[in-house]
Amino acid sequence: MVLSLGVIGLGRIAQAILLPLFQEGKFTPEEVYGVVGKEESIPVVSNQLPLGVKVVHSNHHDSQEVWRAPINLLAVKPQQLNNIVSPYKEDFHGNSKEKPLLISVLAGVTLNKLQKNFPGHCCVRAVPNTPVLVKAGLTGLSWGEGVTSHHKKIVKDIFSPISQVFDLPEHQLDAFLALTSSGPAYIALIAEGLADGAVAAGLPRSLAHQLSHMTLFGTALLLKEKDLHPGQLKDMVTSPGGTTIAALRHLEMAGVRSALIEAVVAAAERSRELA
Ligand SMILES: NC(=O)c1ccc[n+]([C@@H]2O[C@H](COP(=O)([O-])OP(=O)(O)OC[C@H]3O[C@@H](n4cnc5c(N)ncnc54)[C@H](OP(=O)(O)O)[C@@H]3O)[C@@H](O)[C@H]2O)c1
Repeated sequence: MVLSLGVIGLGRIAQAILLPLFQEGKFTPEEVYGVVGKEESIPVVSNQLPLGVKVVHSNHHDSQEVWRAPINLLAVKPQQLNNIVSPYKEDFHGNSKEKPLLISVLAGVTLNKLQKNFPGHCCVRAVPNTPVLVKAGLTGLSWGEGVTSHHKKIVKDIFSPISQVFDLPEHQLDAFLALTSSGPAYIALIAEGLADGAVAAGLPRSLAHQLSHMTLFGTALLLKEKDLHPGQLKDMVTSPGGTTIAALRHLEMAGVRSALIEAVVAAAERSRELA
């Protein structure tokens, strides 16, 4: 059996990464081997994946086969890492020619820890964010010891179909995560608040949500496509004595700008603590 990609943990994020790879023909289903935690997850996960992907549970006698692949994607929850590491230590024998590649998407698990736990591999940390689910994500990448340019190309080929990729020194990953991984929650809170405001001002709930989402989406697109500074866009829609400046006064009085700054700083500090 030729195994190109061995996936440990086939949850939401692994599936979001894998499905576009199949769609683009980067891997055939037969080249992918996956391990999940529980036996009952196998039919649920297999249902989401193309026919031919082999999926076993972690207590299955074949589960260690996953480590025979030249590329491994590690996508379990960080607290599940210890359940992976001890069987790895017992069963992984490595390859004398070239070390296989381990791509970890585990939040807060450092390269140092990965390299200690998976000494037979070259390790890469990837920090994707939830919009990868709609191929509009951002992924930060930090490279461990011994990673080759060939490895880097493989990793970029994996994450490019679902996200823009950024090479970052590892010490910047906490700030990257604080903005991009936690960011969708900040934006969702803003979306909900705007919709509530529209309901308070008289619109029906479903229309308020639809308009709120599209206002955020259109604004983000405008900033990006026209390469505008946010201050420029704000000034473009703020006429003297008008409605927008009346609203902006409230946002500034409530300290929204400084709350956002502190939110990102708090998330970065928490990420450092957890690591
Ligand atoms: N979701 C995101 O947007 C996002 C973004 C960036 C990074 N991440 C990172 O991605 C990782 C996974 O997140 P997720 O949201 O995809 O989690 P998830 O949906 O809970 O998936 C976890 C997967 O790991 C499997 N698993 C558990 N124990 C295992 C074991 N001993 N051996 C093999 N597989 C095992 C689970 O199988 P069972 O269900 O059978 O237990 C499940 O398939 C996390 O470390 C997170 O930090 C997630």
